[in-house]
Amino acid sequence: MMDEKNGLPPYSAVAAAGGAWPRLRGRHSAPRRRRAFKLFALACLALIVLAQWKQIWRSDSRETRLSQAKLNQDLATCKKLRHKPKDPIGAGRDKNARYIDGAKPTLIKNATIWVGEPVAGTSEKDARAGKGWEWTTGDVLLEHGLIKRVEAHIHVGELPKETIVYDAAGRQLTSGIIDMHSHTGVYSLPSLNGNSDGNEMSDNITPWARSIDAIYPFDPQIQVIKSGGVTTSLILPGSGNNMGGEAYLVKHAVGRRDGRREISAADMLADPERTWRYMKMACGENAKNAHGGLGKRPFSRMGESYDFRHAFERARALIQRQDDWCDKAEAVGVENMDEYLPQEIFWESLGAALRGQVHINTHCYTVPDLEAMVDHTNEFQFPVRAFHHAHQTFLVPEILKRTWGGRTPSSAIFADNMYYKMEAYVGSEYAGKRLYDEGLRPIYVSDNPVINAQHVLFEAAKGYRYGLPYHAALAAVTSEPADDLGMGQRLGKVKPGFDADVVVWDSDPLSVGAAPVQVWIDGTAQFEDPVELPKPRDGPIVPDESLANIVEEPTPFADALFTGVTKVLLSTGDATHVSDGRPVNVVVTKGNITCIGDCAAEFSAATAAGVKPVVLKNGYLTHAFTGVAGTLGLNEIDAETATDNGDNPYKFTRAADGLQLGGKKLRAGVKYGVTRAISAPKFTGSQSHHGTSVGFKTSAGTSLEHGAVFVEDAAVHYTLDLGVRAVDSYSAAFGALRTKLMDAAKAARDATDPYSEFAYLRKVVKGEMVLALTINSADGIATALRIKAQVDKVLGADEGSEERQHIKMAIIGGAESHLVARELAAARVGVILLSLQATAATWDSRRALPGAPLTNGTTVDWLLDAGVTVGVGLPEDWQVRDLGLAAGTALRNGGGKLSEREALALVGGNIHKILGVEESVVGETGHFVVSEGSPLEIGGRIKAVGAGKGEVLVYVDSRS
Ligand SMILES: *[C@@H]1O[C@H](CO)[C@@H](O)[C@H](O)[C@H]1NC(C)=O
Ligand SMILES: *[C@@H]1O[C@H](CO)[C@@H](O)[C@H](O)[C@H]1NC(C)=O
Ligand SMILES: *[C@@H]1O[C@H](CO)[C@@H](O)[C@H](O)[C@H]1NC(C)=O
Repeated sequence: MMDEKNGLPPYSAVAAAGGAWPRLRGRHSAPRRRRAFKLFALACLALIVLAQWKQIWRSDSRETRLSQAKLNQDLATCKKLRHKPKDPIGAGRDKNARYIDGAKPTLIKNATIWVGEPVAGTSEKDARAGKGWEWTTGDVLLEHGLIKRVEAHIHVGELPKETIVYDAAGRQLTSGIIDMHSHTGVYSLPSLNGNSDGNEMSDNITPWARSIDAIYPFDPQIQVIKSGGVTTSLILPGSGNNMGGEAYLVKHAVGRRDGRREISAADMLADPERTWRYMKMACGENAKNAHGGLGKRPFSRMGESYDFRHAFERARALIQRQDDWCDKAEAVGVENMDEYLPQEIFWESLGAALRGQVHINTHCYTVPDLEAMVDHTNEFQFPVRAFHHAHQTFLVPEILKRTWGGRTPSSAIFADNMYYKMEAYVGSEYAGKRLYDEGLRPIYVSDNPVINAQHVLFEAAKGYRYGLPYHAALAAVTSEPADDLGMGQRLGKVKPGFDADVVVWDSDPLSVGAAPVQVWIDGTAQFEDPVELPKPRDGPIVPDESLANIVEEPTPFADALFTGVTKVLLSTGDATHVSDGRPVNVVVTKGNITCIGDCAAEFSAATAAGVKPVVLKNGYLTHAFTGVAGTLGLNEIDAETATDNGDNPYKFTRAADGLQLGGKKLRAGVKYGVTRAISAPKFTGSQSHHGTSVGFKTSAGTSLEHGAVFVEDAAVHYTLDLGVRAVDSYSAAFGALRTKLMDAAKAARDATDPYSEFAYLRKVVKGEMVLALTINSADGIATALRIKAQVDKVLGADEGSEERQHIKMAIIGGAESHLVARELAAARVGVILLSLQATAATWDSRRALPGAPLTNGTTVDWLLDAGVTVGVGLPEDWQVRDLGLAAGTALRNGGGKLSEREALALVGGNIHKILGVEESVVGETGHFVVSEGSPLEIGGRIKAVGAGKGEVLVYVDSRS
């Protein structure tokens, strides 16, 4: 890069004087007189030259033609360069700088309020331990874009007449949620090439890139995210390069409808004064994979490190030249400067970062990445505000604490999203708790659209489930990110002086399915006609401190005893064991449940044999879960092809032929009660399927183990979603499927190879196997239903007995299936949703329903209302930990349409039914989950898993 000094236009004195020199050159060949004259002339010239010479060295800018105005500007810039920002004040403001005159005050009456900090006088030690944090009842006054008063009672009579009164009716109120890692607006949804502006991939080092230049205020996701209570997001550039550029903190209010003046990214800025700047950096896999190549840096992490250091070196050199200039200008007077202040857009933001004006957010997962970055902070003396993704930070607090500047970076993490790439292969759902225990700060983020930021609060809820104290989990999406962003006095708490960003919730914010009933940004209600789901008003969760007693690995036992089981929800049998909620005992012998009830004889025999009972207070015994439609058993690290069965764009294969058992994903499944999986070979990428699926036990060591594979060929899968467009058109792909089905329907006899595609299609047309089509678009599903009718007609005509010959079809994906719910029900086609609450992330799922407060229910509700059988699958394999919670969300948000048993069937029996796998084949015996509390709730804790192996895995808590 050329520096600006060399690039200056030649206005300098040297250039101006240059015209005189040629006159000194000449031949000395004249007569005396002429010589005398020449001498005289020379003397004159010498004088002129001397005068010029003096001028040159006087550095008088006026005469050297440097612009005085620009020099003065430069001097003013010196002040800005040396400015050390401080967190902007909250209290003490008359109004929020974002306030728009005329907006009315709002009084929120009778709320249960989470202030976001412990009561005054709580010691730091007590506060960390969770003391002093509480929900209090009271009223909140929002005025001039600020929270003005938070008091037990505010009398409406004292307030201006135009005050809007909102009755919270005792519901819980928190500060707006803050998502410190989002790409909303720069990766607008649905994802399209024309909208993909999140990463300036032209170079590995682009500190000059600014996300604000790409924020699309009409990204529908901005509103969807807000419907999850998120009021503020840090919009970061992507992580494809080591230095991605500047990030901007925005609020989710756009245009007049949201109480703003105009539609613009600048109008969305959370701090219009731009006190702090933000920057994204990223170490690790991405940059070398995206930019590296033979002869192209960074090829390895070593190259990345050099690119970082080289960039910091260049920025440091620039600020040195700037500081020298500023010092000199102040010393000699700016009018005496002979050059302008050195400035370079390329290095400006990084220079500002080295000057401490920019909060650096760095994506680093692994120990070497963290260690290298911390090393750079000390070499170039800059702080890092937060490490993002930060999977391994909980393992190396010492390294983090060595970060330059004295403030240990926080860790911006997911709760349990891992395994998707090599650097995410080492991770723990307990990271949040572990970091907190080290005195460090976990913050939960979405990386929207990686996780739909509408549900970023759910990450915090899971953090609580995994042992982070309740107050710290809430802080991890409110006050902690606010602090990190330098906005700790303005955002993240419900206190006078803070920005009026608040949310009233329909249930405890850390419960499954929690949704806002209203969201205010700068004091303006954001939803005109919000849908409120009917939910029991249970009041706040009473934090369960025992969740912090983590038992990471269960211990296998042949026999086990459980007392205090109050609910029995096995899929076979019934729940009459526990008709009156009276607790019962459960006896497990050689991995099988052998008694439920009083079981006095069995109980005393087992205790006599030395079995120690597991004592439960509110025990649940449920069937185990089935993980379907992911890549379980076919892949270990999503992005690592070496660990993967591979894509099958042209060949129809059997998943049974590609099984790879063992591994972390399957182990996580077993530990969280997912004891069975049904997986199909991938078609062209994740969430696509082609071939026959296999049903297997997740606990099996190899496919030869007894009972490892419970169904070799479960269903016949095709993908007719966007994935197919990589190889064909929709019309060609649907047409080809119809042709194959017609050929199979009309064939005179079965295939000679029983493992061929044709053989399986023969089973499909005979109704012996389910045709499972992966489709998200409502139009695609409509086409599939029409093809089914066409083939059914041929089958009916040929063989008469129409009823029996109908093709059994299932839809996987189904993001828009609510639009054809009645037709699906009529055709008796079941749907396996990927995921329960689809995001409108692709064109084919653009009509996905976000749920309350924007829509009345989500796809699952429409399907169930229409009578469709619904299952919930695995859009990504890490979600094996969350299947129970997905079912719980359907239960909670279903307005009473589901029982607990029916909710559990979404991740169990319904899946088998939809794919046509007989329960007798699945085999209930030995597959069960025992939990303390409901496995459908955040606070439910798995205590034992029967994984169908003749043993029961028990989480032995030595403390209880
Ligand atoms: C607050 O709301 C609760 C729940 O609806 C209600 O029982 C209580 O009477 C309300 N209190 C006031 C002061 O309105
Ligand atoms: C939502 O839909 C349900 C039917 O599924 C209906 O009973 C309810 O009244 C609807 N609620 C609103 C707010 O429209
Ligand atoms: C568990 O029960 C099933 C079905 O009753 C039986 O086939 C199996 O042998 C039992 N397992 C053991 C270890 O007893």
